[in-house]
Amino acid sequence: MPRGKAALITGGSRGIGYITAEALAEKGFNLTLVARDPGRLREAAEAISSLYNVDVQYLPSDLREEGTMENAVRAAVELWGGLDVVVMSYGNPKCEPCTLDEASWRDWLEAVKLYLAPTAEALKTLAHVNTKQARFIVFSSFTTRETHDYLVVADTVRAGLPVMLRAAARLYAPKLIPILVILGSIDTPGARTTVSKIAKRLGRDPEEFWALEVEDRSPLKRTASRDELKKLVGFLAQAPEYMAGSVVYFDGASGRFIP
Ligand SMILES: NC(=O)c1ccc[n+]([C@@H]2O[C@H](COP(=O)([O-])OP(=O)(O)OC[C@H]3O[C@@H](n4cnc5c(N)ncnc54)[C@H](OP(=O)(O)O)[C@@H]3O)[C@@H](O)[C@H]2O)c1
Repeated sequence: MPRGKAALITGGSRGIGYITAEALAEKGFNLTLVARDPGRLREAAEAISSLYNVDVQYLPSDLREEGTMENAVRAAVELWGGLDVVVMSYGNPKCEPCTLDEASWRDWLEAVKLYLAPTAEALKTLAHVNTKQARFIVFSSFTTRETHDYLVVADTVRAGLPVMLRAAARLYAPKLIPILVILGSIDTPGARTTVSKIAKRLGRDPEEFWALEVEDRSPLKRTASRDELKKLVGFLAQAPEYMAGSVVYFDGASGRFIP
């Protein structure tokens, strides 16, 4: 039996995944959150359920393990009686910041296990077990459209996501409505850590580097606000069916490439 609107969110304990969880809780969704650290997941679940008066469950697991997304999708479908929305936000490869020259065989495999394999497993499981039509929202980065010396591993692998989502949109229509979001910059713990590590490697001051290389990348001279991201997620959670297989740019025109 369906138990109201429900969403499954990976990376839901922090950063973009957490902001997404808040946006959907605000709209009355019950949630299942996935991340590795059980303590942080519990804190996130408690904070969101008390703020928004929704039911928030969590599953501590690692996206890089086979079966994580199959288990998470099956458990959430059973618990909520079906999923309306699945959102995939991820971490970063361990080697990052690392150049093409520095990355090892294992680093490349780790990135595939972090981004592509769990996304494919989630799509397939959802198509087989879900009882409703679901929006399937995946977060990627504007850096997949330009080369960046130190993000080459994540970006090369994430560049495959639009291909996978387009294929899923065609194979699983109308059950799945996959949408890829190309993000600019948002001030999160993960973004701050990555940018500080790159600044240190270059012998630059992290705060100055953040202002110049993150905020000033957009002509708006800032990162996206939490409220802007929440508005986007609120819209995508009920995106028109005809957006199946689309790529949405949410990057404040960061970079000069043509989307
Ligand atoms: N923030 C930005 O400006 C920005 C821009 C473009 C793209 N992105 C991308 O968006 C994604 C999320 O970024 P963020 O800034 O929100 O990062 P974040 O603040 O570090 O949050 C990452 C979330 O993912 C979870 N996570 C990390 N590795 C995991 C794994 N192996 N298995 C399961 N969960 C895992 C983390 O919890 P645990 O550590 O407990 O597992 C946490 O909940 C990243 O892939 C990032 O590259 C970010």
